This record gives sequence, structure tokens and C-alpha cells, in this order.
Amino acid sequence: MQAFVTSEGVMTTKKTERALLLGIDLGTARTAVMSNRQFKTLVHSVVGYPRDIIGVKILNRTQVIGAEAIEKRSYLDLYYPLQDGVLKEASDKDLEAAHELLKHVIDLCEPKAGDKICGIIGVPARASVSNKGQLLKIAEDLMDIAMVVSEPFMVAYGQNKLNNAIVIDVGAGTIDVCAMRGTVPGPESQLSVLKGGNYIDGLLETAIRDSYSGVQIDRHLAQTIKERYGFVGEPEQNVVVPLRINGKPADVDVTEAVRVTCETILGDIVENVKRMLLLFDPECQSEALANLVLAGGGSRIRGLGSMIEAYLSDYGHVKVTLANDADFAGAEGALKLATELPPEYWDQIGEKVGA
Ligand SMILES: Nc1ncnc2c1ncn2[C@@H]1O[C@H](COP(=O)(O)OP(=O)(O)OP(=O)(O)O)[C@@H](O)[C@H]1O
Ligand SMILES: [Mg+2]
Repeated sequence: MQAFVTSEGVMTTKKTERALLLGIDLGTARTAVMSNRQFKTLVHSVVGYPRDIIGVKILNRTQVIGAEAIEKRSYLDLYYPLQDGVLKEASDKDLEAAHELLKHVIDLCEPKAGDKICGIIGVPARASVSNKGQLLKIAEDLMDIAMVVSEPFMVAYGQNKLNNAIVIDVGAGTIDVCAMRGTVPGPESQLSVLKGGNYIDGLLETAIRDSYSGVQIDRHLAQTIKERYGFVGEPEQNVVVPLRINGKPADVDVTEAVRVTCETILGDIVENVKRMLLLFDPECQSEALANLVLAGGGSRIRGLGSMIEAYLSDYGHVKVTLANDADFAGAEGALKLATELPPEYWDQIGEKVGA
């Protein structure tokens, strides 16, 4: 038996031994999952279907999920169920892919017969009501109890930054900025821009192509370069990468292209932090500025935190802290919430389905 204190201070001793609790961060690029049985993993948010019967024969399956789908993309149709941070609802196939992806991550957590599967799923700050509804429908199919909550809130919960703090989540599809004011943040406390890592990748690809005539570069390579060398501000050293120019190997200096493209997100981040700051009472603003939390894969861009601090230097003391584990910050917060708050109280925090 385990004792809990609910948000209203009520003690409950509901048995949870058979509950498989899951924290899921459904991202545009990657989905992170953590369970109360100490399992955690990251899966690329992509589902591949063989283009024809030959593909089915090679695979011996009708679908592939995650990194394997990307690897075998030459004979698969790839579906990314999330676009610009929200569930894609363009076709039945998109929804089917979302269902398959969610099922896959739940299966990886190895539920046992008789387990009550209870999951909290983080959705981007800007997900619409109908979008959350679609996701809940899928979740209801796969779990006994499920709830969707805003992703930056989950990060804040996991990092214990629930009051006088601002979360900046730099994802692949979006950058979400969320003001934490001691309650579950509503839509007015969150801002989202479609300028995440994917946006930088596109700009970097073009910048490198425009700088060197005949250079061979694609989006994937640009992303790899950004993930390895991405920085803002003064370079620690020049970024020279082996590429091919008109088919011949060449060492190409991409320092300026990497810096300029990574810096394109700074303006929006800083503007949105300034806008969110105005939601706090004046006497709380200095505390909020000392409590900026940077999460999401893009938070690994070198120098991003110090550059945000520098841009806000005329606001007094500003401190940006990196989330403990950028990849799992959302899933960790969701699991923490699922563990600390019994599922029967979840509807007080977000939209819930199941008994
Ligand atoms: N070391 C790194 N440096 C810079 N960017 C990185 C690094 N590692 C990962 N990224 C970028 O972070 C992004 C993925 O981050 P994350 O997993 O938080 O996104 P997501 O949750 O899938 O997206 P969203 O929150 O927008 O739905 C990608 O654009 C990836 O290229
Ligand atoms: Mg994310």
C-alpha cells in the first residue's frame, strides 16, 4: 500500500501495485516514455508502411516504428503523426499512425495481464481542444485511464518549478514558453512559435548550400551538424565538417552558417519570455526571471542559456537553468505527476478519459 496526498491535501491509500503508471511526452520528432517500473526510452515519432507487397515481404510486417522506419525509408511511406507540435488529423492514416506510435511506446513498457494502465500524456501548449480530444480517443483505446496536459507544465512539474518560473521548451516543431504561477497554466499562460529545431535545420541546409556552390547537403545532414556543433554567440572553435563539393570530398567551414541559423530562435524566445513576465505581479517578476528553465532537445544548443540571460540583462538578475535531462524532462514530470496524484483526481489537472 502506498499513501498519497492529493492536490487538496486529502490522503488516499488506494492500492497501486497493479497500476502501470506512464509519463509520455509525445513530441514532433521524438516520443519519450517513462514508467513507474523504472523503464524509460525515446522513440522517433514516425511510422513507416511498406509501399507495396515487396516491402511487406522484406519486412515480414505491415509497419515499422521509430528509427528502423527512418533507416528503411527507401521502401516505406513515412507518417509523422505530429506536425508543428500537434496531432496531425489530415487523414485516417495519420490518426492510425498516432495510434500505432502510442501503442508501440506502451508495449515497450511491457504491461502485464491484469495491469491497470494509467498514462499522462504531454501535448504542446498550443494543441486545440479538438486535437486533444482526438488524442484522448486514441489513448482511451489503449489505456485504462489517460490524461492530456500541457507539455511545458509537465516540465515545470518535474523540475519543481511550479511558482514564479518560466519554462522554455525548445522542441523540434515548436518553442513553447510557459509562465508558472502556482496553478495549472491555462492557454493565456503559454505561447508557442513554430520555430523549433526543424526550422533551424531548414535554414542551415539553405545557408550551407548558398555559401558553397556545388556543396551536397540535405536536411538530415544539416540536422546532424546542428546537433553536433550547434551554438550561439562566440564560437569556441571553428566548425569544419567533411562534406562533398561536386562529388569531391572537402572540409567546409560552416561556423557562420551554424551560428546565424541557431541564433534565429533567440528573438522569439526573448520576446515571449518578456510577454509572459508581464503576467506575474511586479513583486514576483525578479523571482520569475531568476527561474527560467530551458528544456527540449534544442536546449542543448551551446550558449543558448547565457545568450538569453544577456538579451534580458536590462531586466536585472536573470538566471537560465537547463532542465536535468532535456530528453526526458517532459516524460519525467508526467510520471512524477502520475505517481503523486492518484488517477481518480487527474481530471482536476487536465482532460481525462477512463474510470
Ligand atoms: N545536441 C543538440 N543540439 C541542438 N539541437 C538538438 C540537439 N539534440 C537534439 N536537438 C534538436 O532537438 C529537437 C528535438 O527535441 P525534442 O525531442 O524536445 O522535440 P519534440 O518534443 O519531438 O518536438 P515538439 O516539442 O516540438 O513536439 C530536434 O530538432 C533536434 O534536432
Ligand atoms: Mg517536445
